[in-house]
Amino acid sequence: MERYAGLYSIVERYGGEPTALLQILRDAQEIEGWLPPATLTCLAQLLGVPRARVEGVAGFYSFLHLERAGRYRVLFSDNITDRMAGNIELLDHFCNRLWLERGKTSEDGLVLVDTTSCTGLCDQGPAILVNGWAIPRVTPERIDEIAVLIRSRIPVVNWPDGLFLIEDNIRCKDILLGSDLAPGAAIRATIAAGPLATLEAIQSSNLRGRGGAGYATGLKWQSCRNATGDLHYVVCNADEGEPGTFKDRVLLTRYADLVFEGMTVCAFVIGARKGFLYLRGEYRHLLGPLQEVLARRRADGLLGADICGQAGFGFDIEIHLGAGAYICGEESALIESLEGRRGIPRNRPPYPVTHGYLQQPTTVNNVETFCAAALIALRGGEWYGKIGTARSAGTKILSISGDCARPGIYEYPFGVTVRQVLQDCGAEHTQAVQISGPSGTCIDTTEFERCIAFEDLPTAGAFMVFDESRDLFEVARNFAHFFAHESCGFCTPCRVGTTLLCNVMDKIHRGMGSQHDLNQILRLNPVLQSSSHCGLGQTACNPLLDTIKRFRPAYERRLESLEFEPAFDLDGALERARTMTGREDAGAHLETDE
Ligand SMILES: Cc1cc2nc3c(=O)[nH]c(=O)nc-3n(C[C@H](O)[C@H](O)[C@H](O)COP(=O)(O)O)c2cc1C
Ligand code: SF4
Repeated sequence: MERYAGLYSIVERYGGEPTALLQILRDAQEIEGWLPPATLTCLAQLLGVPRARVEGVAGFYSFLHLERAGRYRVLFSDNITDRMAGNIELLDHFCNRLWLERGKTSEDGLVLVDTTSCTGLCDQGPAILVNGWAIPRVTPERIDEIAVLIRSRIPVVNWPDGLFLIEDNIRCKDILLGSDLAPGAAIRATIAAGPLATLEAIQSSNLRGRGGAGYATGLKWQSCRNATGDLHYVVCNADEGEPGTFKDRVLLTRYADLVFEGMTVCAFVIGARKGFLYLRGEYRHLLGPLQEVLARRRADGLLGADICGQAGFGFDIEIHLGAGAYICGEESALIESLEGRRGIPRNRPPYPVTHGYLQQPTTVNNVETFCAAALIALRGGEWYGKIGTARSAGTKILSISGDCARPGIYEYPFGVTVRQVLQDCGAEHTQAVQISGPSGTCIDTTEFERCIAFEDLPTAGAFMVFDESRDLFEVARNFAHFFAHESCGFCTPCRVGTTLLCNVMDKIHRGMGSQHDLNQILRLNPVLQSSSHCGLGQTACNPLLDTIKRFRPAYERRLESLEFEPAFDLDGALERARTMTGREDAGAHLETDE
């Protein structure tokens, strides 16, 4: 009865809407630290949906637990930069302190310790999540402190604030990070200009999406505006799951007004009354501050009815929290998740601009894209279009991590060279840079004159630096594990293929690999590229192909003999990896966008 009452009030808080299922499950899990079978049954009854749907959704997201998970759930971020900072040694230290076994809940039901994919704190790793709350810069001393807090059974809300202090590390500002746009200024300019003139400004600015695929923002907004539907929606993609990317975290921390301003400008242009910000679960700590910004904007007349005094212009924004699924960054999977379902990418076409949230016209843009759109609405498309290169207008924010003296956030006009960036962040003896995360490109020293731009090195933001001491085979192996872990399992080529890639890399790592195993990777590549349902599977071989091509000795020293079968054309395989999805200058994810 007590359980029923608790769940009833949660469901009521969300208006009994099955679309809020993920949020409801997140809140329900707070009660006991996991989701017991009786909870799932009860939620199914309260929401009037099949129990299988509730269990199916709960089973999909890695932060939701269908088995007893411990009063404290401690997850160590396991990006390659966390590895380089010693996360596994710290995890072992933690296990030793509390007599724990990785991946298991302690017998007394107190602690579960495990790893999780990149938590977006690569500039201040190693990082951990405790019951969803991020703790950066973990050291053996911090581990000891946390072990004492847990052993004393102190609730996480009462832990010292200093543990949770996250730095912004903004190192280099340009038009976006340097802007001092007053809240409401871009909205007023948009209202004054009208929706068509604002759309024209976005189009003439040549702004392209900053989430990876680089699709023309003006064209996307226009298609959505022109699409027929009862309601139009604006969605801000703040899932930021690509390992090595954390610029959206900083934008949401320090520039939330600019993000919401851009979403509101978009709403005016496309005719939307409702917007969502899909915030990755790892950024749980940002939920409260973002809600406060929304409340302030409502009070100031920048959200709600008759925004800025414009009769009939009503728009509001709701925040949805993810629950540990990288695939929900893919826009159609994100929309599924917003609708309270498993985050499985949809068949496309139709695209979200015509059939998005609840099959209504929906514009999905990255956090940084909305910020840029707000600046353009205020200062014009011509001004923006003059910044950057001919094919890449404006600036790009990079999240720099790895072997450099000054990791953090850097904003540059497009066209900046990799060498310049390396110099600015204090990188020395650099061997390789992974641009745009595992699904992007790994370059070596001969390519440092290349430029950050859609026409050369496109990036969603990640810029991971590896110096000469690093083993690029281990970097690629970490990425292979990432893809296998994050594959949603919907299609066989990706589900099986990413696991096979891991098996091969682990075998080589153990010193038991042969030429056959390497050829196996090259054979899997065309299968994954051509028959995977979405960008995750299509790009899963990229880091392996890149490192085999550029850092072959890292593989060779683990193999007894390494001779490619003569028929194998590695350059051709790499070329196909970058172009097969039909976008010769595609962004990080190589997906087929609108
Ligand atoms: C596997 C996968 C993960 C993705 N993750 C993100 C993400 O975390 N953030 C993001 O903005 N876009 C991500 N995308 C791209 C989105 O699908 C979409 O193109 C983007 O949100 C559109 O916004 P934009 O036009 O402003 O770039 C991802 C794509 C794929 C295939
Ligand atoms: S390619 Fe992978 S992530 Fe994408 S739908 Fe298929 S199984 Fe899911």
